[in-house]
Amino acid sequence: MAQRNLDVYKRLLTYSRPYLRRIILAMIASLGVAATDVATAKLVQPLVDYVLNVQNLMFVNLVPVVVFSLAGVKCVSRYVQDYFMKTAGQLVVQDLRNEMYDHSINLSMRYYSKHTVGSMVSRILNDINMLQKSAADELVAMIREGLTLIGMVGLLFYNDWRLAIVAFIVLPVAVIPASQIGRRIKKYVRKSLTNMSTLTAILQESFSGIKVVKAFGTERAEKEKFHRENWNFYQRMRKVIRYDSATAPIMEALASCGFAGVLWYGVQRVMDGAITQGELMSFLAAMGMMYGPMKRLIKSNNVIQKAIGAAERVFEMLDLQPDLTDCEGAIALPRCRGHVVFDKVDFAYDDEPVLRGFSIDVPPGKMIAVVGASGAGKSTLIGLLARFYDPVAGKILIDGYDIATVTQNSLKQQIALVDQETFLFHDTLYNNIRYSNPAATDAKVEEAARLAYADEFIREMPEGYQTIIGDRGVRLSGGQRQRICIARAILRDAPILLLDEATSALDTQSESVVQKALANLMKERTTFVIAHRLSTVMHADEILVLHEGVLVEQGRHNDLLEAGGVYRRLHDMQFEDRR
Ligand SMILES: Nc1ncnc2c1ncn2[C@@H]1O[C@H](COP(=O)(O)OP(=O)(O)OP(=O)(O)O)[C@@H](O)[C@H]1O
Ligand SMILES: [Mg+2]
Repeated sequence: MAQRNLDVYKRLLTYSRPYLRRIILAMIASLGVAATDVATAKLVQPLVDYVLNVQNLMFVNLVPVVVFSLAGVKCVSRYVQDYFMKTAGQLVVQDLRNEMYDHSINLSMRYYSKHTVGSMVSRILNDINMLQKSAADELVAMIREGLTLIGMVGLLFYNDWRLAIVAFIVLPVAVIPASQIGRRIKKYVRKSLTNMSTLTAILQESFSGIKVVKAFGTERAEKEKFHRENWNFYQRMRKVIRYDSATAPIMEALASCGFAGVLWYGVQRVMDGAITQGELMSFLAAMGMMYGPMKRLIKSNNVIQKAIGAAERVFEMLDLQPDLTDCEGAIALPRCRGHVVFDKVDFAYDDEPVLRGFSIDVPPGKMIAVVGASGAGKSTLIGLLARFYDPVAGKILIDGYDIATVTQNSLKQQIALVDQETFLFHDTLYNNIRYSNPAATDAKVEEAARLAYADEFIREMPEGYQTIIGDRGVRLSGGQRQRICIARAILRDAPILLLDEATSALDTQSESVVQKALANLMKERTTFVIAHRLSTVMHADEILVLHEGVLVEQGRHNDLLEAGGVYRRLHDMQFEDRR
């Protein structure tokens, strides 16, 4: 347990290495602070013995000068120490936060489908904040108090080692409760951070799902859910506070025992003439000044334990191996022609198989349509091609390259995807479309928008392409959002185009216009089109019919109709609907 804490702490310290210069400077300044404290305690003795008792006027005039100079040194040192130590702490936290984000965004879709956005946010913000409040700020105090403590202890033993031993009897006694308390604090801080992440997840969900909340009038239930979790968080924090608050009184009680002992024994030694009154006073002053840092150090231990609790969670996250990475010696896939092969691909998200023995061979430039009931595995299929997941068995090849053996980056360069769930960023329309190709000029963006049949409505907006759309494009209609996403895919200019219900929200007329535009685009590209509306896919070079993850039919529209199978049934149902 203690070893693990130490490991976590050591690992945390490695992050401070780049800022060693600041830290050393701060430490030197701490030395100044500690030295002035020790000097103050030491000077009590000449004050009593030479100034007060002897009444030497020259020394009396010196007193304010000495006091003022000491204070000056202490103030400057303290400022330097605080400034450099705290900026170092902030920089360390910055680095950690960046590393957390970089690491998180590299994790696979599998990871993201199993964790709430809120909990991810919470780790990066709340856990690191806890670390910052604790480790960064407290490290300053630890070093300063530690140095002062060492100085005072030295002075005590130098003054009178017998008295010093009496004063220190309490120290080993104090260590036991301190370590117990530290352990509990760490435990409850960890737990409280778990609560905080649930709390963040609730927030994130209720705000991003605010329309559902409003539609079903479930504000009250949401409030209750939030209040309950907030209360749970308080319960955890209450435990932390309980142990935290007990620390100071326990230390106070122990310190008073030490004082009592020293007074009792010290006065006797003055009476025996073993030490002077001044020496006793100096000893008591040093002791008073020593218990201060000691108490604060023990309190610091609590805070450090909090930091370790948070750091454990942070490191757990950083230690997660991304389960989908570039393989050893992965090569960059050059711009491909778009020859796509699925070779006996099996896939499951969990245990339930979603694709079984799926094989196809698509020559470059062909348009492939994928149809089938909801949940048949259509989106999964193109997700595999985009390598969101790796197949459980089998291979996927592009131009003969197994996509598992090429760099993910180069693979993504070959692909433009319009997903079933349209997502737009909180940014201008220009930037939303340009997202797929940051180097594209405004003219290119506008051309893509024209092809996607989006130019017209964009120009009608108050600020045209400069209009900022909400974080989920709330100011656009479903069909408009889809057209922005299509424009984004067009601008990507990739050899493989994946359209997952890309035109489902458009009316029949706009859909046929967009289809025409896409048809132009598809000419030199391999395209996978998923659509429920069969009119969208009937012109495809090949139609794949998926049923519960199995490819059951394959062919052109007319052939499939004649065959009279699943496709025929789907077709007749839609035809009947229309009649
Ligand atoms: N991230 C996921 N984790 C676990 N199971 C999933 C995940 N995504 C999809 N599934 C499951 O895999 C199966 C296929 O889903 P998929 O999204 O491929 O269907 P689809 O054919 O695209 O359906 P739709 O027409 O409704 O979009 C479904 O049974 C679904 O429940
Ligand atoms: Mg789907």
